[in-house]
Amino acid sequence: MKLPAIIVNFKAYEAATGPAAVVLARLHGTVLGGTGASIGVAVNMLDVGAVLGEFSGPVFAQHVDPVDFGGRTGHVPAIAAKKAGLYGTLLNHAERKLSSEVLEQTIRACREVGLYTIVCAESPEKVAEIVGYGPDAIAYEPPELIGGNVSVSSAQPDVIRSVVGIAGSIPLLVGAGVKNENDVRVALSLGAQGVLLASGVVLSPEPEKVLYNLVDGLS
Ligand code: G3P
Repeated sequence: MKLPAIIVNFKAYEAATGPAAVVLARLHGTVLGGTGASIGVAVNMLDVGAVLGEFSGPVFAQHVDPVDFGGRTGHVPAIAAKKAGLYGTLLNHAERKLSSEVLEQTIRACREVGLYTIVCAESPEKVAEIVGYGPDAIAYEPPELIGGNVSVSSAQPDVIRSVVGIAGSIPLLVGAGVKNENDVRVALSLGAQGVLLASGVVLSPEPEKVLYNLVDGLS
């Protein structure tokens, strides 16, 4: 399974849930179709069915639980996410943190059902810990830059270089404040495989334009 180079996390933004999620997913599909770029989306569970009908690229959950089918009120079993057609899932996002124990269990549960895991880490130390759990990919996101206008690429080039080294053979995305092609280009030049972003696309008045610009950074 392959890690997309640009993943847009719809989070729970109003501009990216319900009918707006469908519009946004369609637009990602247009850019994917027009450029052939490696783009994925991470959507709210409520919108998974609708988005899968609109977007042919990889669709990720924003979180799943390490439980099987059964009496699990309020949980999202990893197996159910797989059967729904999801490609993979984010785990341990700074806005949806997990204990180390639960994180390890969840990575294992996803591996068993073939759900691709991108585990978020807020520090180099956390990246080192997560490497030991054997996820498919890691996303380094410094929490203080999430949702802001200063990108991880511009603020922390040395840290990116260092977490790429710590991740070793596990592919690594970087995220937080990513907005444009330059952020993508710098991330790639430092050894990252791509970017994970949200507000730069979701809250833009011209998300399609932003996406095309981000894709330019891949070449
Ligand atoms: O998961 C992506 C995210 O946390 C980064 O958010 O808005 O800074 O691109 P943003």
